[in-house]
Amino acid sequence: MSEPISGPAFFIGKGDDTLISFGSGQPDLPPPVEAFDILKTYTSFKYGLVQGEQSLRSALASQYPQATAEHFVITNGASEAIDLVLRSISVPRGKVLLPRPYYYSYPFNVLYAGMTPCYYDLDKNGKVDFTVFERIVQGCVAVMINSPSNPTGTVQDIDTLKKIEALCDKLGVYVISDEVYKDIIYVRENYLIQGSRVITVNSFSKTYAMCGLRVGYAYSTNKELIEKIVEMKTHTAMNTSIVGQVMALAALSAPQSYIGHNVEVWHARRDLMYNGMRELGLLLWKPEGAFYVLPKFKNSGRAVNDLYYTYKVITYDGAWFGAPERIRFSYALDATKIQEGLRRLKEFMGKEYASY
Ligand SMILES: Cc1ncc(COP(=O)(O)O)c(C=O)c1O
Repeated sequence: MSEPISGPAFFIGKGDDTLISFGSGQPDLPPPVEAFDILKTYTSFKYGLVQGEQSLRSALASQYPQATAEHFVITNGASEAIDLVLRSISVPRGKVLLPRPYYYSYPFNVLYAGMTPCYYDLDKNGKVDFTVFERIVQGCVAVMINSPSNPTGTVQDIDTLKKIEALCDKLGVYVISDEVYKDIIYVRENYLIQGSRVITVNSFSKTYAMCGLRVGYAYSTNKELIEKIVEMKTHTAMNTSIVGQVMALAALSAPQSYIGHNVEVWHARRDLMYNGMRELGLLLWKPEGAFYVLPKFKNSGRAVNDLYYTYKVITYDGAWFGAPERIRFSYALDATKIQEGLRRLKEFMGKEYASY
């Protein structure tokens, strides 16, 4: 009897040469060499500032309009930033509006912060329907925006983001903008949502392919909120890895061509994956950013199970992202593996899946 596949945790860290993993969202591309070079001479391992190293915060500030180092808290990846932000703004049972499909941790993050998740469904094109959003956002404490999105790969229209910005400002609703894929975008430049109640969450995990280092940050011009987050971090994780921060700072000094080259690689893989899936007759959104596709699949749980146990292909059930009857495939793996994965998928679709 095969062990049941209960969620992403079943797959995290799994991998051998026989497996094709479309599961995990971690880039396989190398981090910038600048990040390693620094290690040869690095010697300091003391506790660091809880808010994060001044040098890293100043370097980040130069990337945001009118920002200063005081506006940033360096965290253990975007994950800790989301957790700290939600707990800092928490009111008992306050409602937090999440996009659906969502990044699978969001509902848990909201619940752990003592609040209640509620949802706005993306429309048939994977976009925010502002009329729906406007109705549901009333009475919420905060709203989560994730563009480019995991798992849909869609990027929201600038016009819609501006409307959300203005509406939330008027209503006094916090906007937590998860922009971890802001540099992996194929259709336009990223749009930075701004405002006194906006908290931008970002990370070195995706842009600089440094997931395991666990360096991310929260950025907000709201001084009180930043102080609250730092206070909470003082009594929980304390400073983010000091070596990780030094490597992150060095990564920021990498030439722009590092990011440009990576985006070209992602783009080519996107085409391979999207075209391959279309040839198999699958229905899916064409990713505009990030590195995921989310095709429709009947009986997605069973398909994920069969793909893993019979074809040695790891995929994530759309149900884990609030999208039952879809499956998420990450294309963070090289072209040869993508092709082999698509070959196995074709075989699966011609056999088991055909009889579902
Ligand atoms: C949308 C989104 N937010 C946050 C995270 C967490 O990233 P980090 O590694 O920076 O904690 C991920 C990771 O996959 C993600 O896809």
